[in-house]
Amino acid sequence: MRDHSDLQSMNERSLAQQAAVRKATFSPSERKTLRPFSIWEISQFMFQVPADTLRKKLVDDPSLPQGAVEEDGRQRWFSLAEINELRRRLRFRGRSLLPKRPSGRAVRVAVSNFKGGVGKTVVAHHLANAAALDGYRVLVVDFDPQATLTHSMGLIEVKEWNTVWGIMCRDLCREADRIVASYDDPSDCPYPSSDELPDDVQSIGAQRVQDFIQKTAWATIDIIPSCANAAFVEFASAQYRALHKAWSFFGCMSRYLDELPDDQYDIIIFDCPPAIGYQSLNAAFAADILYVPSGPGYWEYDSTTSYLGQLGDALDDISTGFSSIAEDAGIHLPKQFDDIRLLMTRFEASNPLHIAMLDAFQNVFGSDVCKNAIEMTRAVEQSGRFQQSVYEQDYRQMTRETWKRARQSFDAAYGEFKETVLRAWEQREVKHVG
Ligand SMILES: Nc1ncnc2c1ncn2[C@@H]1O[C@H](COP(=O)(O)OP(=O)(O)OP(=O)(O)O)[C@@H](O)[C@H]1O
Ligand SMILES: [Mg+2]
Repeated sequence: MRDHSDLQSMNERSLAQQAAVRKATFSPSERKTLRPFSIWEISQFMFQVPADTLRKKLVDDPSLPQGAVEEDGRQRWFSLAEINELRRRLRFRGRSLLPKRPSGRAVRVAVSNFKGGVGKTVVAHHLANAAALDGYRVLVVDFDPQATLTHSMGLIEVKEWNTVWGIMCRDLCREADRIVASYDDPSDCPYPSSDELPDDVQSIGAQRVQDFIQKTAWATIDIIPSCANAAFVEFASAQYRALHKAWSFFGCMSRYLDELPDDQYDIIIFDCPPAIGYQSLNAAFAADILYVPSGPGYWEYDSTTSYLGQLGDALDDISTGFSSIAEDAGIHLPKQFDDIRLLMTRFEASNPLHIAMLDAFQNVFGSDVCKNAIEMTRAVEQSGRFQQSVYEQDYRQMTRETWKRARQSFDAAYGEFKETVLRAWEQREVKHVG
């Protein structure tokens, strides 16, 4: 017979060898870098102008970034920083290249579904890349201890206190002290203050808001990463809730993001784990928009249906069971989203079953279904060690048609995503001003 001690000793053996295994299989010294982008891509997919028009602008003004010409090549290649400088300085027929940015804080989008493997991480990664190439400043938050997005973004060594778990601990310390301070006589407070909480929680309480944010290979995409050790966040959160019964555990992430300066980011994207728990509830509570990817199989439809029901029930339970705690913390219940969108992924237009499933989704959910499904593409499957996005892959490494088709599919999905984000942003701006 075997019990928990076997699992613990297996874990210890594995941890002792982890560095060696990683070295042999993962080459951690390799750093992820972002490739440059060719004038063909920039003119066709980003600025939407003829390549010759862009070339002429560059010749006319030598003070503009000029990119670099590869040996034996003729194309010019530009870094993302150079592309962003061109965006700021160029206009075409009076049209600015800067993306629309209403005032107020960044819009927050949770990519979420408790069905595993539907493409949440691929969608979150590609939307973040597409938004950055469109000129937006993006923060991604990895809520999933599988940490696929974190690894895809090139981060390998992440400590658990730098993850969403750390943000929840810090929030508990701050909320505990706020609640004590709200009593005329603090000694009347039946709940603990931060210095009565466990040491590991207290030690995170002093972290500053920016300490949780890390850089990626993309100058305009930052990340709050995850790591496998953060898996115990579900378990730990249940313990902390028992320690402090007045803690609005579902509002940690929302409070944290409210502390960021409004202008630091434009779009914040959450990659959620395939589960409904403390982390995904925090993601839902912090989100303005829910983006629910689903694959084209019947079981995915089935699972997406139960996800919608279970998330609905969980939010309903919070509204009824936690109303006074939420009110005290300044959280308005019920939680309201600006929008909820369903997005079909891994779609094959030549597969009759996929077409039937997309039809079924549209019949059932109507205009809540995104018009542009994301196609199944080899470009995603063969994306290499860092799980490069289609945007990160150099199109010369595959047939240009394969790459272009894949890119156009993600671009179309991004176009719709951007419309959804801008609609939510503008509505909020009107409310703010009104
Ligand atoms: N459009 C696509 N074309 C081809 N392969 C895809 C596509 N989208 C996702 N995949 C593949 O499907 C698998 C699952 O994708 P992904 O990791 O994004 O799913 P997920 O929903 O985040 O999974 P989890 O629930 O485990 O977090 C991956 O191997 C990915 O490469
Ligand atoms: Mg994932």
